[in-house]
Amino acid sequence: MSNLEQTLSIIKPDAVERDLQDKIKEEFTKNGFNIFKEKKIHITKTEAEEFYKVHQTKIFYNNLCEYLSSGPIIVMILEKVEAVAENRKLMGATDPKKAEEGTLRKKYGLSIDKNSVHGSDSQENAKKEILFFFKD
Ligand code: CMP
Repeated sequence: MSNLEQTLSIIKPDAVERDLQDKIKEEFTKNGFNIFKEKKIHITKTEAEEFYKVHQTKIFYNNLCEYLSSGPIIVMILEKVEAVAENRKLMGATDPKKAEEGTLRKKYGLSIDKNSVHGSDSQENAKKEILFFFKD
């Protein structure tokens, strides 16, 4: 049986600023993802803090929240069989310097902070993150 899943993806401010959103969306569809829902938003720092709460004890938390709220982002619900793992594979390692050839972060990421895309890291977090941005 196929295991159709949903995951949350964010095209981060550095990529939107460089007008890469269409290219990145095309990478998702080319790789078999269905963009089920999407919206362009600009969140507040407080909302970013809530979204990245799991990282609240990390040294990079404040910068991370400043950054995610620094400009418009595209949030998307992606669908595919095993979407969470497949999206993480397509994104590549968190640090673009360590990301494999052909991955989104290798192609578009600028640094570990400005790494162009976010993707849920588990099915449980995918559900929470989807609800966070798409309440209805
Ligand atoms: P993301 O997948 O959106 O999840 C948390 C983000 O924190 C991560 O991508 C990085 O952009 C950012 N970050 C900054 N510094 C670090 C670090 N040292 N380790 C992991 N993530 C980091």
